[in-house]
Amino acid sequence: MTRTIGVISGKGGVGKTTIVANLGAALAHRFKKDVTIVDCNLTASHLSLLLGMDYYPVTLNHVLRNEKHISEAIYEHPSGMKIIPASLQLKDLIKVDISKISRHLKKLRGKTDIIFLDSSPGLGKEAVATIKASKEIIFVTKPDIMSVSDVIRGKEFVEKIKKEPMGIVLNMVTRSGHELTKKEVEVMTELPVIAIIPHDKNVPKSLAKRMPVVLHKPRSSASKELRKLAGFIIGEKELGFFEKLIRFLKT
Ligand SMILES: Nc1ncnc2c1ncn2[C@@H]1O[C@H](COP(=O)(O)OP(=O)(O)O)[C@@H](O)[C@H]1O
Ligand SMILES: [Mg+2]
Repeated sequence: MTRTIGVISGKGGVGKTTIVANLGAALAHRFKKDVTIVDCNLTASHLSLLLGMDYYPVTLNHVLRNEKHISEAIYEHPSGMKIIPASLQLKDLIKVDISKISRHLKKLRGKTDIIFLDSSPGLGKEAVATIKASKEIIFVTKPDIMSVSDVIRGKEFVEKIKKEPMGIVLNMVTRSGHELTKKEVEVMTELPVIAIIPHDKNVPKSLAKRMPVVLHKPRSSASKELRKLAGFIIGEKELGFFEKLIRFLKT
């Protein structure tokens, strides 16, 4: 069965695209899952930029214009994950109807294990279409009052249209004392915090190399938490060094 997970936020710049790219890479590379990540943020399409895959002839825009089948817009990243990019060109926004995304994604059912949808922030047309096309929802927020209050509004909408909120990813956590704690966020939103990802300079460093941090700096603190989140989503634990060694020796 194919799971479709929307990654959303109230505010922009909280790390949705980073998290989608890294979950995709971790699940494909470490957990050997068939994962497809889709750039649903047509007006700020950053996913392919982050992965160094920014020129591709067929994009989600062509699919939404009914010019191409969705299978023609799928490209493979070296990690093994698949990506459906959105166009970076202004002209490709013409006659694109994001509300049709759900219909096109249905054609991938049974062909991939997990689809992650990288949303635009807020509850505008693109984000609403992304939420409607998803079954499960991950909220990404920084641990500050404004971002978290946007999650409350987002959760209300998600529940109203009968989607399943999986929980909150707290990103760019510095533990500097003035941030909301996990407990405070959970009490405010009535949602579980499923990951706490530290603010880590290796994330922008990896962006400069156009690689997901889980591949570029796998031992960094952000990478460890991103892999843990990937394992949580599929209900598996990443094997430690000794567990891997024992498994290897047994084979
Ligand atoms: N955990 C982190 N630590 C440090 N920088 C981060 C982290 N997560 C994201 N960033 C940086 O924050 C910026 C915004 O991230 P992005 O994923 O584009 O957010 P969004 O998709 O929500 O707009 C990028 O420059 C990214 O490298
Ligand atoms: Mg983004």
